[in-house]
Amino acid sequence: MAIPFSSLLLAFYFLSLTSAKISTLVGINYGQLGNNLPPPPDSVDLIKSLNAQIVKIYDVNPQILKSLNNSDIKVSVMVPNDLIINISSNQNLADHWVRTNILPFYPQIKIRYLLVGNEIISSTGNQTWISLVPAMRRIKRSLKIYGIHKVKVGSSSAMDILQSSFPPSNGTFRADISDRVMKPMLQFLNRTKSFFFLDVYPFFPWASDPVNIKLDYALFESKNITYSDPGSGLTYTNLFDQMVDSVIFAMKRLGYPDIRVFISETGWPNGGDYDQIGANIHNAAVYNRNIVKRVTAKPPVGTPARPGWVLPTIIFSLYNENQKPGLGTERHFGLLYPNRSAVYEMDLSGKTPEADFKPLPAAETNEPFKGKIWCMVSRGANKSEVAGALAWACLQGNKTCEPIQKGGPCYEPDSLIRHASFAFSSYWAQFRKVGGTCYFNGLATQTIKDPSYGKCMFPSVTLQG
Ligand SMILES: *[C@@H]1O[C@H](CO)[C@@H](O)[C@H](O)[C@H]1NC(C)=O
Ligand SMILES: *[C@@H]1O[C@H](CO)[C@@H](O)[C@H](O)[C@H]1NC(C)=O
Ligand SMILES: *[C@@H]1O[C@H](CO)[C@@H](O)[C@H](O)[C@H]1NC(C)=O
Ligand SMILES: *[C@@H]1O[C@H](CO)[C@@H](O)[C@H](O)[C@H]1NC(C)=O
Ligand SMILES: *[C@@H]1O[C@H](CO)[C@@H](O)[C@H](O)[C@H]1NC(C)=O
Ligand SMILES: *[C@@H]1O[C@H](CO)[C@@H](O)[C@H](O)[C@H]1NC(C)=O
Ligand SMILES: *[C@@H]1O[C@H](CO)[C@@H](O)[C@H](O)[C@H]1NC(C)=O
Ligand SMILES: *[C@@H]1O[C@H](CO)[C@@H](O)[C@H](O)[C@H]1NC(C)=O
Ligand SMILES: *[C@@H]1O[C@H](CO)[C@@H](O)[C@H](O)[C@H]1NC(C)=O
Repeated sequence: MAIPFSSLLLAFYFLSLTSAKISTLVGINYGQLGNNLPPPPDSVDLIKSLNAQIVKIYDVNPQILKSLNNSDIKVSVMVPNDLIINISSNQNLADHWVRTNILPFYPQIKIRYLLVGNEIISSTGNQTWISLVPAMRRIKRSLKIYGIHKVKVGSSSAMDILQSSFPPSNGTFRADISDRVMKPMLQFLNRTKSFFFLDVYPFFPWASDPVNIKLDYALFESKNITYSDPGSGLTYTNLFDQMVDSVIFAMKRLGYPDIRVFISETGWPNGGDYDQIGANIHNAAVYNRNIVKRVTAKPPVGTPARPGWVLPTIIFSLYNENQKPGLGTERHFGLLYPNRSAVYEMDLSGKTPEADFKPLPAAETNEPFKGKIWCMVSRGANKSEVAGALAWACLQGNKTCEPIQKGGPCYEPDSLIRHASFAFSSYWAQFRKVGGTCYFNGLATQTIKDPSYGKCMFPSVTLQG
């Protein structure tokens, strides 16, 4: 069949228009949970030096927004989790929030994405869950009221929104949120032509099963490992694609096959605790360079379920953040140390060839740690806080603090720090298997040097590898 020249021209016109408009953006998450981070203007300079095209922040910090004035960097801002319930039922409050937090900066500061909450399903109670989409609708309406049309409204989700993610074609949202949260959200995203914002960390599934999942498969390094999904017939060459496609199949199952995916967080930790595998500078650099190379490839690669689609991606994160709670890896996702030096070289434009980067340090933690680990008070910890944590730890478990009572083998020398280190080790040795951590709000740290002395034996966590 002959195609009239004019419609051919038209087709080309639309083709070039869309591909120009949706070139793949790569950005950086600028988290601020550290007490030693450079100020916003310096941080913005560092963000520019990484060639980031987007910066995502977890609030609407005016200092950061002002520092982004006169730059081409696109910005993603966030409505805090604890405002969602109130905003969901109060248009005046939504309007007020947009008026005070967006209007003073828009359009000079290129705010393009507005996330309502951060991983709401993973981090808040179910009262907030059902308020999420109503809050998104109100925020969208407020933006319209103030004539702000370039800002996409969404909300970031972690992989725990899925009940089933394997094989990817079996991807299904959790039953408790599927109809009440996900379906209305997808309807909203479809109507407003927004994105499904997804936080994807292949590190976590790999680290929980490093025997069956190959590290190379998680790092985009495998040349020969493939997984063929029996449900879809699609072939996978890396874990990231599998995870993203499981969400795409879950959306399809609810009747929304076309909603674009935006990777709002991905990354790999450059360090962690002794009992955490694979968290090192080598792997972090390999993962982050590979994902950037992949999503910036021209023409776009997409995923097996969506070949050729662009996948905007924001790497987590700018800095190692020393006040992030949880396991050690949480505090080691940065491309930069707080003192501004690079943990490893990184170019978020994807244009620097691998050969131009300096050689990476060897990966020393790719096998599980074998041996004993103790939990000690960190250097410089606040003494009154340590005393509080000691009292708390002694109330947990069985005879946790008996040896540090007067007359016990670990009572002398009678020092707060020594007693607390004993209590932390004793607590952790009993509770690690049920999820207890050696963290104590940053007061504790792991050691592999046995602190026992004389007749005082510190309980340890013993790993068989
Ligand atoms: C939400 O509204 C209630 C009732 O007006 C108020 O008490 C509460 O402080 C509000 N919450 C936040 C986070 O502003
Ligand atoms: C951005 O910079 C311009 C001048 O270049 C200034 O007029 C404007 O007030 C600034 N906007 C903000 C939000 O700081
Ligand atoms: C929220 O969770 C609580 C406790 O798990 C449950 O009792 C309640 O029914 C849930 N509410 C809704 C609206 O799902
Ligand atoms: C698909 O997911 C369901 C739960 O949604 C699970 O019961 C089933 O085993 C999964 N199928 C396969 C082949 O893994
Ligand atoms: C893939 O290649 C590596 C290195 O050449 C080899 O050790 C491994 O056995 C191969 N795996 C498969 C599934 O062929
Ligand atoms: C919205 O849904 C309709 C109907 O399923 C579909 O045709 C359209 O492509 C969707 N749009 C987006 C942006 O997902
Ligand atoms: C910055 O901090 C890191 C980690 O503490 C350290 O290894 C590095 O030497 C420091 N760089 C400078 C320039 O001080
Ligand atoms: C130690 O922590 C307490 C309670 O959080 C606080 O009041 C005090 O200022 C802190 N002391 C130092 C030296 O930081
Ligand atoms: C404490 O002892 C009881 C009874 O022996 C036991 O059921 C429980 O699991 C112990 N708790 C811990 C944390 O080991």
